[in-house]
Parts: sequence; structure tokens; C-alpha cells
Amino acid sequence: MDVSGEEAVPMSEQAPQKGEYETQWRASLDDPEAFWLHAAEAVDWDRPPDRALESHPPFHRWYPDAELNVCRNALDRHVDAGLGDRAALIYDSPVTGTTRTYTYTQLRDEVARFAGVLAGLGVGRGDRVVIYLPMVPEAAVAMLACARLGAVHSVVFGGFAPRELAARIDDATPSVVVSASCGIEGKRVIEYKPLLDRAIELAAHKPAKRVILQRPEATVELGSDDVDWAEAMAAAQPADCVPVRATDPLYILYTSGTTGKPKGVVRDGGGYAVALAWTMRNVYDVGPGETMFTASDVGWVVGHSYIVYAPLLVGATTVLYEGKPVGTPDAGQFWRVCAEHGVSTLFTAPTAFRAIKKEDPDGALLSGYDLSGLRYLFLAGERLDPETYRWASDLLGIPVVDHWWQTETGWPICADPMGLEPLPIKPGSPTKPLPGWDVRILAPDGNQVAPGVDGAIVVKLPMPPGSLPTLWNDDERFVRSYLSAFDGYYLTGDGGRIDDDGYVFVMGRTDDVINVAGHRLSTGGLEEALATHPAVAECAVIGVADPMKGQVPRGFVVLKAGLQPDEDELRAELVALVREQVGAVASLKDVAVVPALPKTRSGKILRRTMRGIADGADEPVPSTIDDPAVLDTLRPVLRPTGQ
Ligand code: COA
Ligand code: AMP
Repeated sequence: MDVSGEEAVPMSEQAPQKGEYETQWRASLDDPEAFWLHAAEAVDWDRPPDRALESHPPFHRWYPDAELNVCRNALDRHVDAGLGDRAALIYDSPVTGTTRTYTYTQLRDEVARFAGVLAGLGVGRGDRVVIYLPMVPEAAVAMLACARLGAVHSVVFGGFAPRELAARIDDATPSVVVSASCGIEGKRVIEYKPLLDRAIELAAHKPAKRVILQRPEATVELGSDDVDWAEAMAAAQPADCVPVRATDPLYILYTSGTTGKPKGVVRDGGGYAVALAWTMRNVYDVGPGETMFTASDVGWVVGHSYIVYAPLLVGATTVLYEGKPVGTPDAGQFWRVCAEHGVSTLFTAPTAFRAIKKEDPDGALLSGYDLSGLRYLFLAGERLDPETYRWASDLLGIPVVDHWWQTETGWPICADPMGLEPLPIKPGSPTKPLPGWDVRILAPDGNQVAPGVDGAIVVKLPMPPGSLPTLWNDDERFVRSYLSAFDGYYLTGDGGRIDDDGYVFVMGRTDDVINVAGHRLSTGGLEEALATHPAVAECAVIGVADPMKGQVPRGFVVLKAGLQPDEDELRAELVALVREQVGAVASLKDVAVVPALPKTRSGKILRRTMRGIADGADEPVPSTIDDPAVLDTLRPVLRPTGQ
């Protein structure tokens, strides 16, 4: 099926059948081979798949004999189908006062030319390219250009500090880095080039070239290994699409684990293209000619999947928005974007809605805009608290769909499938597992718990197409991190329950990952930064509840014996240290100096107990604790009186 040739008919007007969700979900688990071969018809293959799944437990690969080019699917095929004049990407940037639309033909031409630039720098199939860019269209152009050549991109979020960028450069060993002179955060111009230079200084691996996009807000002097984006584009020849195996990596996206070393999640192209196309029709209900606005960042998985790849794969229009939901110029920007660009589906993180609600609690700014075309609000990235759900739902009067997924999965595990069959919403739940996902709740002994009982949320293997096949260059860590806790299951790292109706409730991480304003961070990484301070003997970082960001990190340090520094100065230094080593996005604003940390008799810091007390739970003292008195000293620091 060539989706790009269809007219703009909202999927929801095709009257979903009652029971369709249940039928499709069952079919996907009973006969995954047939289900995903059928779904694969939405993609144009250079060599169509004869079979869907190849299993070498615990590893699973989708479409092992097929070939495609994801960039061709996202761009060229729509142009070839005569839809080249249709808007592909709208760049909307209130921080620079710019709006620019790229048609499919224009975007294809830009991408082909930039692929020519990369090819000229020696980038070919399988080579890695790190992309460290703000929210500018060139970020999407660079990603798609890599896909065009069969090269592997690794986008690094702009809010990460040089040390984090260096860790990713060392792991991905790119031959080229693509970056910009600056990013813009509200009214602040943040120079990127010094951050990139510092990262390359820190990294053991030295990329041969860096392509730099000069932005008028701050131009930089280029060095001998730097290539000016505009000059290179002017001189380049467009490059063609290179067909690659469906199982070849399309990208590596680093995400936080329990330690400071990020995990390189590998995404292969074939399964991803199939799964994304399936979700656009069946979950987000966005078809050709419709406009999706995903307010996230291309540095996160949400940005990869639903700013760049999925909307383009189905011939829709995507909005790439540079700015925050609030601030510059006001908290009505999401409404303006939706009205001006005829957005039918808006997707963001709950924290963005909490930020808007704080600025404009009555939604007064909404009244200036015509949002009659907006049909759904999708929220993900962190738990959607029922209060924010109700506020958004009352304000907009459209379905507000909580859905749950992870960098590792590439697309939602649980959602209310609006295009397939809208199910009744239960606030606090991301509804039910989508086709392909066999979600279970397990007790620590590996037994499945009864409905309504909390446990570890796991997925029975194999996971569907698009989910991670492994970690970059690290099969062993992949197995250890995700597959070893329960034989035959993928460990999501989230805890929660499934109720009697089959609705999943995701209550929070069971590991040391925290979620700050929809950004995933490792407390282990923050602790590693704090530990580099010469006065710190040991430390712990926990995530505590925050009314706007969902969670924020709080640090606790024990000083080396005999030291009596000025505490205010020390705390400021520690906050600055984390900002410098991890990045502003860590949002660590508070570090307490404490006499000791609570530990088990074997020396493990009781972070979960600390977290529970900070969040106001009536936390029992664990039987494994070494010295209960330490906890008593800490209680007033964790939860000051009145909280
Ligand atoms: N480059 C440089 N710095 C960045 C950055 C980037 N790309 N992104 C964030 N930062 C900085 C911010 O400027 C801020 O710096 P500050 O401490 O000096 O003010 C810091 O990192 C923390 O950023 P953030 O947590 O985003 O807080 P915020 O107050 O700037 O904005 C929200 C809060 C809720 C408005 C914003 O986080 C948001 O819109 N989030 C929801 C959407 C989203 O991206 N979700 C991701 C997954 S769906
Ligand atoms: P990331 O990999 O950055 O997308 O973060 C994934 C993590 O965010 C998940 O493991 C959850 O902890 C959390 N998360 C994402 N979406 C939801 C949701 N809808 N409800 C609860 N938690 C969520």
C-alpha cells in the first residue's frame, strides 16, 4: 500500500469497529509473523521481506531478509507519487521570530544535498555521525541525510554538557560531527561551538571533521577541521538513497541507565519504519496531508520518532518547534502553533502542560486561537498525574491520551489507540498494551501477580519491530541490563500494575533513573559528578516530587573527615559542578551536607528509603539497615517540617 497517495481523511472518520483493538492485539501475539508481514506493506522495500521474525534467543531481529532506505520512504516516494508540493516540515521558532515551510520536494533536495556533503567527507554506509544541534530544521536534514547514505546517526541533546557529549563520541566513534554555532534558550544565546570543542578535547576518539551551521544569533570562527554548513551545501552534489538491510542500524540514541555510562540504544530501520507507520494510523490517527505537532526535542526518542520519522513516513506534515511552551513570548505558543498550522494531533510531555497551567491557569490565552482542527492531545515521557489530565481535558475538550514508552522501545508500549478503536480513558493509566506488546507484572520471584497488585513491568519476548535489538557494541550489557532479571522477559525498569480490565498503571522507575521535566537522567551519573569534588567523601542523589517538573534531583553529600568548608559556598560549587559535567538539563538545584548516609549492613546506600521519606511516604525502616539512627538524623533534611 502506498500511503502517500491517499487523501487527507481523518482515520477517525472511518468509524473504528468495536472490538477491533482486542482482535488486533490478540492477532499480533498469536501470529506475529502474519501480523507484522501485513503491517510491512505500508513501507516501500527495495527487497520486500519474505519473513518477519528471526529469533536466536535472547536476540530477535525483524525482517532479516529485507532491504529498504528509510529516507526514501520518508521523502522521495512522496515526491515520486506527485505530492512534492505538500508541506513536509514547518519550522516554527518564536525564539528567532522565524517560520519556514519545506515542501516534500524542498526537504528531499536539502537532504540529498547534505547527504552529498557527508559523502564528500567520506561518510558511507555504516559510518557514524554525531549530531549536536538545537531545534533547527538542519537537525532533521542531517538525520535524514545519514539515513539516505545508510550511515548511522547519533543525536545528542543540546542540553548535555561536553563530558556527556564526549562519552557518546567515544562510544559511537563518529567520523563526522554536525553542530551549530549556537542554540537559543528563551532569550539566552548558548554558544555550542566551545562546548563541542571541549567535548572533542575530552574524548579519546577524534572525529575527522565537524560541519558547523552558522546561525546569525552568534557566528563563530571555524578551525581547520571545521566545515561551514552553507559553503559545503553550495558546493555539494546531491546523493542518492542507498538501500540497506532492514536490520542495519538507522541510529544510536544514548539513554540513561543506572550508571553514568549512557546506554547506546540501537534502532534498526526496517522494523522501525513499519512500526511507526502502524502507529500513525492506529494510535495517533494522523494520515497523509494532516499535521502533527510534537513539542519535544530531536535529542530525545520522542523527537526521533514523532518529529522526524513517523510523520514523514506517512506523508503528513510535521512541526519542528524551537522554543518552550511558556516564556518567549507567552504561554499561548502551543495554541498559536496549532491554530496557524492546522495541527490535528499535538504530542508533548505532561510537564509542558503543567508549565502552561502555572502561567495561564484559566486558559485565557486559548481564546485568541481557533483550535477546531485539533483532535487529540497525546502526552508521554513521564507519569501523567490525574490533575494535569483533567485540566488539559477540560480546557481543550478533546481526548487527552496518556501513553507510555521508552527510548528502548522506539514507540508506545501502551496507548489508547485512537485510530484503531478509542477505548474508555482511565485517568492515571496509559490504557492497554498495543499490538506486539505482551505486558506482564512480575513479583521478585518471577511469578505473575494478580490483577491490581504492583510489581515489575516486563514484556514477554520477542518485542515487536522497532524496539531495540541490542546496545551499540555491547550485547553483553544489553542482556545484563534488560533480559537477565526474568528469563524470557524484557525488564522495562518501571513498576506498576494491571487492573481487572487490563489497564496498565505505570507508577515509576524501580531503578535509579529519574525523569525531570520529561528528560530521563541517571542519578548514578549525577553522583559521579558530585563525587569528583575534592571535599566529598560519599554522596547520593535521589529524585523527589516536583509540582512542575514531575521530579527533580536532590543531592546529599558526606564530607571527608576533618573538613569544615563554608557550606553555602560548597553547595554552590556542587551545583555548578553537576551543571558543568552533566549539563543544565540536570536541574540539580539543591545539595545537602549530611553527617552520614543510611546504608545496609553490606554498605549499599538506601536510596529508595530516602526517596520514600522525601515523597512523604510512611516509609518503614528496612530490616537490612546498618544504623537506624542515621535515618533519624536524615529525616528532617529529607522532609523539612510542614511538607
Ligand atoms: N540546550 C541548552 N540548554 C538547555 C536545553 C538545550 N537544548 N534544554 C534545556 N536546557 C537548559 C534550560 O535552559 C534550563 O537552564 P537553566 O537551569 O539555566 O534555566 C535547564 O536546562 C533545565 O531545562 P528544563 O528542565 O527544560 O527546564 P525549563 O525551566 O527550561 O523548562 C519546561 C521547563 C517544562 C517548560 C520544559 O522542560 C519543557 O517544555 N518540557 C517538556 C517537553 C519535552 O521536551 N519533553 C521531552 C520528552 S517528550
Ligand atoms: P525515555 O526513555 O526518556 O522516553 O523515558 C522512559 C521512561 O519515562 C519510562 O521508563 C517511564 O519511567 C517514563 N514514562 C514515559 N512515559 C510515561 C507514561 N505515560 N507514564 C508513566 N511513565 C512514563
